[in-house]
Order: sequence, then structure tokens, then C-alpha cells
Amino acid sequence: MKGKIPQAFISDLIERTDIVSLIGSRVALRKSGYQYIACCPFHNEKTPSFTVNPQKQFYHCFGCGTHGNAISFLIAFDHLNFVEAVGELAKQAGVLIPGEEGQSLSINQKLYDLLAFAASFYAAQLRKYINHQYIKTFIQRRGLTESIIDKFQVGLALPYWDGLLKAIPSPLKPHIKNSGLIINRGEKPSYDRFRNRLIFPIHNRQGKIIGFGGRLLEDHPTYPKYLNSPETPFFHKRRELYGLYQVIQASHNHEKLLVVEGYMDVLTLFNHGIEYAVATLGTATTVDHLTRLFQIASTIVFCFDGDNAGKKAAWHALEVVLPLLSQGREIQFIFLPYGEDPDSLVRSKGRNTFEEYIEGAQPLSEVLLSTIKEKVNLYSIDGRARLVELAWPLICKIPSGIYRDMLLLHLAEIAKIEYNVLVNRLEAKKNNSTIISQELKKNKSKENISTPIQKIITILIQNPHLIALVPKDFSLDGVVGLDVELLSSIIKLLIDKPNSSTGVLLEHWRNSGLNPYLEQLVKKELFITDENIAVELESTINCLKKQIAGKQATVLANHLALSDTEQNKLRALLTVR
Ligand code: UTP
Ligand code: MN
Repeated sequence: MKGKIPQAFISDLIERTDIVSLIGSRVALRKSGYQYIACCPFHNEKTPSFTVNPQKQFYHCFGCGTHGNAISFLIAFDHLNFVEAVGELAKQAGVLIPGEEGQSLSINQKLYDLLAFAASFYAAQLRKYINHQYIKTFIQRRGLTESIIDKFQVGLALPYWDGLLKAIPSPLKPHIKNSGLIINRGEKPSYDRFRNRLIFPIHNRQGKIIGFGGRLLEDHPTYPKYLNSPETPFFHKRRELYGLYQVIQASHNHEKLLVVEGYMDVLTLFNHGIEYAVATLGTATTVDHLTRLFQIASTIVFCFDGDNAGKKAAWHALEVVLPLLSQGREIQFIFLPYGEDPDSLVRSKGRNTFEEYIEGAQPLSEVLLSTIKEKVNLYSIDGRARLVELAWPLICKIPSGIYRDMLLLHLAEIAKIEYNVLVNRLEAKKNNSTIISQELKKNKSKENISTPIQKIITILIQNPHLIALVPKDFSLDGVVGLDVELLSSIIKLLIDKPNSSTGVLLEHWRNSGLNPYLEQLVKKELFITDENIAVELESTINCLKKQIAGKQATVLANHLALSDTEQNKLRALLTVR
């Protein structure tokens, strides 16, 4: 790549990146209060001291002191250089780096605009035609209420070839190609992908529409019952989950989440007050899905059909989840009666019955062992040895901890082998593997913050949103120094872009000599509770204002034609406040 990547682009990219997802896809994070914790990937430790703060878009390890933003993380963890790290984030955000193929960020905004336009176009059509018998019957049969339709922005594509295509406003037309909404014939946008279908917009976690699903309103011999948007710069089926945005909106404190197969399952469950179900988009469960789900709740319940296909899908999910099963996380499975899905079941039996199913879900250990047990003859020694052989590679995938120990205990019991024999084998395997651990120097900062300016910088850089508390007329005129310049720039930057995170602020000074200093301040422990931080900032600002006023008064006093004694007296008076 030629030239320098503009700072504004980088700031924007860090804002768009969800650092929790980014780190979460590489390190098993666990939610703890307002942040996420894990055992530090940069040094060897048994108890987690690595924290990721989603508000600040920043990570910090209290053990080894390593910290930074999304870019620093990729540099450290994926061993990328700066430009590669930016490239990786840009790729994930579905944006092009300015200058690359002459594209820019605003193009992506336009694409979001087009997708949002399409969603409101479809929603308006549903509102318009909702009382037509044909649509009304369909909606009523499915039990969809108005509030669910609104909450999920359900829409309607009429049975025309170019209803949407014709409606797209000209400024958005250049973005049709990446939207997945219109099918091309040759190079030319030609006809609507979604026709004669009920439309389900798919939101990302920020609530932006990134794709669509559509269900045929009447059976068709060759058209599939459900159609999804194709992969686009914004829409990756293997990453997204239908309903996730609404689930997060419904509560910020979910204990468990339910994973179901279909759009209709999610809608009907919500309709019946079960507001914690998401659906995969016609793909098998992926690590990305699970990582995302574990960021929201510690228990994930998979809901599958009771038939063979359901069991196969459950087994796949089980294999994918094993490496993610760190302490405190749990996976359970529900197998529904033949021919039922959550949608049909909750409609016929009601919420309580369905929640009884959830309560009675089978834990992963049970599914794992019982599936393997079916394959062997437990009455023979050979069969029991085979059982261990089959369970072995799976159990090895689970991170060490109580969970794995319990499973081993259980396996030992069934196989009638001594527990210690089993564990020794596992230990032997672990020691053979090459664990390269880097003992990083502990560099917890212990120095105290000495001046009010340093304190304000520290508070602001750790809590950029508090810029709102800095008075508009706050002026540092009359004081000089590196700290003063830095504070002025921080304030200016935050006034221009009040939503900047700590990560963005740091990025601004990455290549300046101030970088190490700022990094020190970022990790400085202030020993102030979150509730008191605002008060602390205000009082420090007041204290600084007084200091500045005092200094200015002294300067003025020096200009007055006063005797030495008078000057001293005036100075003394001015410091009494
Ligand atoms: P199902 O065929 O189980 O449909 O597909 P459903 O959820 O019970 O829907 P209704 O009740 O018939 O309306 C489950 C999911 O599989 C994907 C969709 O994501 C759907 O929600 N699917 C299904 C497709 O992608 N294409 C299809 O043709 C069918
Ligand atoms: Mn169904």
C-alpha cells in the first residue's frame, strides 16, 4: 500500500471494531461486571488478570502490564505489523482503506443506507398490504403480532420482479452491487432477489441492517422456502445470528441463550415472552457464533430436532464448542419431539411447557458420553477401551479445569478405569506439547500522579466520555509545559469527536514521543470508584483553575508598581482562596 493511512480512518476503524469480538475470537473471554476477563495470552498465568473493556475499547493485563487497543492486540497476538493490523480490522469491518482502489469509508455508510432503505421499503409494503386476505391469513396462521413485526422490522416483498429495484433512490444506486438485494444479468442490476416473500431483516449487534432472509408466501416447486442474502462485505452467514440484536436489546443480563434453527422460531418465542433465542442462518454452528454468544451469557442451550439430522447437528455443535469450554461456561441440548420445532411447540403447548423443556435440557457431558456409549459394547473390556479411545480426543480439546475433571471422572466410572490412570495419560500428552510462554516483565505502574493536569489527562484518557464535564470556557492560557499541550490536544480532540474511546485517543499518539507516557497513564490505577470519577474530575478541574488564576494574578502583581513588601502581601492574599 502506498502513502499513509489517514488518522481519521484509523480512529473510525477502531470505533467500528468490537474489541470484545476481536479478542474473544482468539482468547476465551468471560464476562465479569462491565468488562471481560481471561487468562492473559501474553504471559503464563492461572488466574485471569487480563481485562477487556468494551466501553474503552481497550485491553489491559494487571499481571504483565500489557495493554492497548484493537490494533495493538493484532500486532501482539497475530504478529502483524501496523499496516497489516489495520488491513485486518478493515477487512472485518467490511471497509476499504482509503486510497485502496479509490474507495472510501463513506461508501460503506451508503451501503448501510441502502440496506436500511430496503428494510423500510419492505416494512412499508407489509403495513400497506397487511389487511389483504392473502397476507392476513399467512400472518395470523403464524401468530405474528404487530409488536413482533415492529420489533423485528418484518416486511413484505410483493410478487413483482423489480419493485425494490425501481424504488431505490438514485444516490444509492451505485451501491446495489454490494447489497445482495438485486440480481444482475450480465453487468446490469436486473431484478429483485426477494419476491413474494415475508422479509426478515438481519441486524448486526449495533442494530444496523446487514442482510435479509425471506420466506415464500406460498409453496413453489423450485424456489427454496427460505432465501438469505448472499455473502456481502457486511453479511457473513457463518458469523451472524438472527435475533441477536433484539436479544441484547431485551436485556443486558442474560443468564442463558437459546440457539434455534429458524427465523420463525425466534419470532414466535419472542412473541411468547422467551426473549433470549437466536437462530443460525441456515449454516452449522461455528466458533464465531459461539464466541459471540458466550460474550452475552454463560449458558448456551441448543435446540435441535429429535431426528437423526438434529442429532448430527448437535454433535457438530458439541465438537465446535469443546475448546471454548472454559470455567463457568455451560452448553446444554434440547431434542424436540419428532416433527416439532420451537415455533410449533410454543404455539401449541405454550410458554410454560417450552420452558420446562429448557429446564430439562441435557448437559454437554451427558450428550457426549451417551453418544459414544451407543457406539460400543460396555460389557466387554475391548468395548470400554474403545469408549476411552473415542472420548479421548474430545476431552483433550476441553481447557483444563473442573469441567474437564468432572467429565474424566465420569468417563473413568463408565469405563471402569481408575481415574488417576486416565489423568496421567492426559498430563503426559500435555507435557509433550510445546508451550512457548513468554515471561513478560511486570511493570505495574506504582508512581503517583503528582499534578492536577496529569490527573485530568489520566481521567480523560481512561474515561473519554467525561469530556462532557469539562467546562466550555476552560482555558489553560498562561501555563506552559508538555503536559499542558497534551491536555489541550486531548480536550480539543474530544470536543471534535466526543465519542472517541481510549483506544482512539492512544492511536492518535502512537507514533509520537508521548506514546509511552500516555500508555503509562492509561494503565494507572486511580483508586477512585466509577461513581466518584466524575466528581473527582470536576474538583480537579476546579483546583487547576484556581492554580491557574493564582499564577495569572502573580504575573499581574509583578507588573504593578509595588514595593517588595506590598508584592509579597498581595501574593499571599491571592493564594488565600
Ligand atoms: P425449516 O425448513 O425448518 O423452516 O428451516 P421453519 O423454520 O420451520 O420455517 P417454517 O415454519 O416452515 O416457516 C429452518 C431454517 O433453515 C434455513 C432458514 O434459515 C430457516 O429459518 N433454510 C430453510 C434455508 O436457508 N433455506 C431453505 O430453503 C429452508
Ligand atoms: Mn416451522
